Amino acid sequence: MLEEKTTRSFAIGAAAGLTAGLAANAVRKIFVQAPTMMAGEWDEGLAAEHRAVLKLFDQIQATESSHGTRRSILLTQIGHALAKHALEEENAVYAMLRTHGQVAEADRLNSDHGYVKQYLFELGQMSTSHPLFLSKIGDFRAMLEEHMRDEEEKIFPRLRGLLDEDENAALTKAMNQEGLKLA
Ligand SMILES: [Fe+2]
Ligand SMILES: [Fe+2]
Repeated sequence: MLEEKTTRSFAIGAAAGLTAGLAANAVRKIFVQAPTMMAGEWDEGLAAEHRAVLKLFDQIQATESSHGTRRSILLTQIGHALAKHALEEENAVYAMLRTHGQVAEADRLNSDHGYVKQYLFELGQMSTSHPLFLSKIGDFRAMLEEHMRDEEEKIFPRLRGLLDEDENAALTKAMNQEGLKLA
């Protein structure tokens, strides 16, 4: 009897702990997604993420070869930020581009994301003290900035103009929901 009671109270305690854990995780996710959500519409949120990731590049480009741990941490942060960003774009924005006839544009941007992953893989394989580490980071940044310019100056403004107010609001919601999955 006592054993049964103990087991039950343990189960209740574990369930309460799990619920609290899930709630804390939900709060943490919203906190991570908040800067994007607060930036405004979907295209403004994504542009804010572009700027945030370029700041991480500024920081990693300011390191020296002896700063191995700092380089690893920053590279991990860049990887996380870009994985969340790619999910938001590929699962919501690029899908909406194709729905509105911009298939070649969506496919081109999607292909760029493949090379973003390629850079992240190659940098992950490289020693942080490798003499060419920063040069590869510089090539990665240049590729990324060109991709961001393409999105911010051409593709996104065109899509935003093709959508009415409700469709833009729905896309903002869908983009943030995708972001929350990886936040
Ligand atoms: Fe992109
Ligand atoms: Fe982007």
